[in-house]
Amino acid sequence: MYVCICRQITCGQIRAAADDGVSSVRDLKQQLGVASQCGKCAGCARGILENALSDKLSQKDEPVA
Ligand code: FES
Repeated sequence: MYVCICRQITCGQIRAAADDGVSSVRDLKQQLGVASQCGKCAGCARGILENALSDKLSQKDEPVA
C-alpha cells in the first residue's frame, strides 16, 4: 500500500528501512524521501515505522528455539 503518494513509497519500503536501521521519520525522509513534498504522509509513516520497530524489538526478545 502506498503511504507517500508524492514519492510513491510503500508500507513495505518503510518496514524494510526499519529493518535496515532507520529509526525516525527524519531518517526516512533522508533515505526514501518520505514526507519531503506535501508532508501529509508524515503521521502515517511514523505509525508504520513505530510498528515496525516494535515488531523488531519483540522478535529480539523471543527465545531462540
Ligand atoms: S504524500 Fe508524502 S510527501 Fe506528499
